[in-house]
Amino acid sequence: MKRLGILISGRGSNFEAIAGNVASGALPAEIAVVISNRTDARGLETALSRGLNAVCLPSKGLDREVYDRRLAAELHKHDVDLVCLAGFMRLLSAGFIREFPERILNIHPSLLPAFPGLDAQHQALAHGVKITGCTVHFVDEDLDAGPIVIQAAVPVRDDDTEETLSERILKQEHRIYSEAIGIVIAGKYRIDGRRVIFT
Ligand code: GRF
Repeated sequence: MKRLGILISGRGSNFEAIAGNVASGALPAEIAVVISNRTDARGLETALSRGLNAVCLPSKGLDREVYDRRLAAELHKHDVDLVCLAGFMRLLSAGFIREFPERILNIHPSLLPAFPGLDAQHQALAHGVKITGCTVHFVDEDLDAGPIVIQAAVPVRDDDTEETLSERILKQEHRIYSEAIGIVIAGKYRIDGRRVIFT
């Protein structure tokens, strides 16, 4: 069984969705550890209440390389096969990414390459797009830029606020993240340039 390391910074609803699918057997994987870089992350409590290994590794004030070495050490300690960023609000260094080549996934609340970075839902509304969505992608050294595994489209309604739009996108995030993890841990894909081809 492949071992997941889930990195969070806050609410942790994507982590919960993954944990639900692992618990039900829909996602044949094990959650080896949940790590938060923030002490107040609600997802840490959820992890503990589910009886999972929950580790708080505060990043505040730490140099990126120093922090990332500690993070990598913690993940290796738990023998993690795949690192899943789930609302982890911190850039990772090139050194960290090299430690887990093509073994880090991220979820982003837009149809990348549109609206990378912070406040993607706000960016989508401000731009006036009619369709946005979410993306699960491999993490490389550029922000929100690695090869795309799965995307889901979400129509923007005229009366949408950031909250209503975020909520509808989140439903799709919860669906596609586990689906993407399933494909990656089963090795049912190959990466051809920027394209992830399902095999
Ligand atoms: C999600 O919208 C995710 O796409 C983004 O941060 C948010 C995290 O939400 N990267 P949660 O902590 O999983 O509830």
